[in-house]
Formats: sequence, structure tokens, C-alpha cells
Amino acid sequence: MLFPKWMNALPTVAAIGGLGAAVTVVAGTWYWATPDFFEVGYMPTQPGGGFNHAIHAGRLGMDCRYCHYQIEESPEANIPPVKVCWGCHSENKVKVADDTKVQFVLEAYAQDTSIEWRRVHKLPDYVRNFPHHVHLNAGVSCYSCHGQITGMEIVHQVESLSMGFCLECHRNPEEHLVPPEKVTRLIEVQQELADRAQGQGKWDAEALRASLRKDPPQQCGACHH
Ligand code: HEC
Ligand code: HEC
Ligand code: HEC
Ligand code: HEC
Ligand code: HEC
Repeated sequence: MLFPKWMNALPTVAAIGGLGAAVTVVAGTWYWATPDFFEVGYMPTQPGGGFNHAIHAGRLGMDCRYCHYQIEESPEANIPPVKVCWGCHSENKVKVADDTKVQFVLEAYAQDTSIEWRRVHKLPDYVRNFPHHVHLNAGVSCYSCHGQITGMEIVHQVESLSMGFCLECHRNPEEHLVPPEKVTRLIEVQQELADRAQGQGKWDAEALRASLRKDPPQQCGACHH
């Protein structure tokens, strides 16, 4: 094993030796400025009343890829432009109980501006571009990193997204893998992973592990510049 488990508990001091001086300074500052436990639960105030995932992805059952449509081909998960919302919210197309709540969406469309959604999840700059597409195609669900989004009225951060969090799965991916066609079925995935932890999963975790294109990386250069 390249990166022993105990190092996770000694974030800055222990890891410094392995990286260049420039990275170390940035990393040290970041570490002291924003410890991970401040990020869990992070929920910035969004424009308008915010975008409600519990309505759209939960109650209406919309697939994540309806809006985050680049996610299987691209490292980045796109945020949908207003025209995606307009497809339903243009005059009277769908019925909204309190239509003052969608006013900010209609205004943005009429003025041809974008809605300035505030970013929730953000890795520090010294981490390489995080590859969404690789994870989804390998069978890692949004649920494993973002939690039960279909129940969230406003998205907040659930996992630390710390290095230890990434490596814990990279060492034991079989605990988390699901069939790739299930990655956006967050309710099913939550149930399966809970059952699997009790030794009662329905999906063949060993077969999923064996079918990985390659092992998840543990060497520093895979995630750092
Ligand atoms: C109807 C469109 C739509 C659907 C469907 C949708 N989303 Fe979103 N999503 C958005 C919009 C708009 C934002 C930006 C506002 C916000 O952060 O709440 C967003 C933000 C997010 C964020 C936070 C991004 C950040 O800033 O870090 C995550 C995570 C996310 N969505 C995951 C999901 C998942 C998982 C699903 C499927 C279960 C899903 N979304 C379905 C429109 C959608
Ligand atoms: C597939 C159709 C569809 C799309 C696409 C869609 N919505 Fe909706 N949206 C609905 C429906 C239906 C409701 C009403 C649900 C209800 O009140 O029961 C709704 C409700 C809302 C509300 C009111 C929420 C509340 O608390 O009552 C807002 C705000 C909203 N949508 C914003 C957006 C934004 C922003 C986007 C684009 C990122 C979007 N919608 C895309 C169908 C859609
Ligand atoms: C293996 C972990 C992991 C999985 C799986 C994952 N994400 Fe993410 N997601 C992240 C991380 C880490 C970030 C922050 C990336 C950064 O800062 O570069 C992020 C950021 C995002 C963002 C914000 C992008 C932006 O530019 O504002 C959205 C939206 C998002 N994810 C949606 C999803 C959806 C939808 C799924 C499932 C279809 C998903 N993610 C699966 C870890 C994950
Ligand atoms: C729940 C499991 C899980 C988590 C959490 C996770 N990964 Fe991964 N990651 C994987 C798997 C599985 C692969 C192997 C994909 C394959 O075989 O193609 C992988 C591969 C990668 C790769 C290699 C991409 C390539 O092109 O081969 C990078 C880089 C990566 N992950 C970064 C991260 C970072 C950074 C985080 C934390 C923010 C993270 N991962 C969190 C499961 C995970
Ligand atoms: C799977 C991806 C991945 C691998 C492999 C990886 N790192 Fe990291 N590392 C991260 C992420 C993500 C962060 C940012 C954590 C945060 O947001 O606080 C990080 C943060 C750091 C930090 C800042 C301090 C801290 O813990 O937050 C240092 C120093 C560091 N890594 C060194 C290393 C070294 C040395 C190696 C090789 C032995 C390595 N990393 C391998 C993903 C990785």
C-alpha cells in the first residue's frame, strides 16, 4: 500500500514530506483556514428561494442527467442553463402551487441572463480536475459523494470530500460499487448499500469490482499536480 491509513489522521505534517514546497504552502494555508468539518453541512444561500431537488428529482422523479446532462462524458458536472427550466416553466406549462416562487426563473429567462447559483462542493485548486464521468461509468453513485439529494429541498454538503474520504473508497471500492446503469437511482442505491453493509446486498459486489477498467489510483500524482 502506497499511502498508509494512519497518515489520514496526520493531515498536514505527515503528508508534507511527499509534495513540493509550493503545494505545501497552499495546502497548509487551506488546511488551517478551512478544516473539513466546516464544509460538511455547507449550504450557501441560493438565488430566489433556491432550486428544490426534493420536488424535481424526488417527487417528480426526474433523472439527474435531465439537467446535469454532461456528467457521463465530462469531468465536470454541468449546472443546467435557464432554458432547461423554461422547457417546463414557460407560461402555464406546469402547474406550480405558489407561482411567485418561480418568478426569478422567468425573469432570468426574459432578460437572457443566467441564474447565479452558488457553488456548494469545491475541491482546493491543488487537487486535479475531479473526473465525474470516470466514477459514474465505473459504477460509483452520486449518493456515495453527495448523499440523498432526492430528499434535499436545498443542496448541502454531506461528505467531507477530504483526501481520507477519497482514499477510503479507492482502497475498498467493492463496498460502494453499483451497476453503472443504477448510479442515478439514489433511493435504490441507498437501500442496497445499507443492505450490503449487513451482508445482504442483492447486487454482486465482487463481480462489479472485478469488472473495473483499472484499480482506483492511490499514488499522489493521480490527484495532485
Ligand atoms: C430540473 C433540473 C435538475 C435535476 C433533475 C437535478 N438537478 Fe442537481 N442541480 C440543479 C440546479 C439548478 C443546481 C444548482 C442550484 C443548487 O446548487 O441547488 C443543482 C445542483 C446540484 C448539486 C450541487 C452542486 C454544487 O454547487 O456543488 C448537486 C450535488 C446536484 N445538483 C446533484 C443532483 C443529483 C444527484 C440529481 C439526481 C438525483 C440532480 N442533481 C437532479 C438542477 C437539477
Ligand atoms: C420536467 C419539468 C420541470 C423542469 C425541467 C423544471 N421544473 Fe421546476 N417545477 C416543475 C413542477 C411540476 C413544479 C411544481 C411542483 C409542485 O408544486 O408540486 C416545479 C416547481 C418549481 C419551483 C417552485 C418550488 C416550490 O417550492 O414550490 C421552482 C422555484 C422551480 N420549479 C424552479 C425550477 C428551475 C430553476 C428549473 C431549472 C433548473 C426547473 N424548475 C426545471 C417542473 C419542472
Ligand atoms: C466520487 C465522488 C462523486 C460522485 C460519484 C459524484 N460527484 Fe459530483 N462532485 C464531487 C466533487 C468532489 C465535486 C467538486 C469538484 C471540484 O471542485 O472540482 C462535485 C461537484 C458536483 C457538482 C458541482 C459542479 C459545478 O461545477 O458547480 C454537481 C452539479 C455535481 N457534483 C453533481 C453530481 C451528480 C448529478 C452525480 C451523479 C450523477 C455526481 N455529482 C457524482 C464528487 C462526486
Ligand atoms: C465511493 C468510491 C469512490 C470515491 C469516494 C472516490 N473515488 Fe475516485 N475512483 C473510484 C473508482 C472505482 C475508480 C476507478 C475507475 C475505473 O476503473 O475506471 C476511481 C478513479 C479515480 C481516478 C482515476 C481517473 C482515471 O482517469 O483513471 C481519480 C483521479 C479519482 N478517482 C479521484 C478521486 C478523488 C479526488 C476523490 C475524492 C474527492 C475520489 N476519487 C473519490 C471510486 C471512488
Ligand atoms: C484519490 C485522490 C488523492 C490521492 C491519491 C492523494 N490525494 Fe492528497 N488530497 C486529495 C484531496 C481531495 C485533498 C483535499 C482535501 C480537502 O479538501 O481538505 C487532498 C489534500 C492533500 C493535502 C493537504 C492537507 C490535507 O490533508 O487536507 C496534502 C499535503 C496531500 N493531499 C498530499 C498527498 C500525498 C503526499 C499523496 C500521495 C502519498 C496524496 N496526497 C494522494 C486527494 C488525493
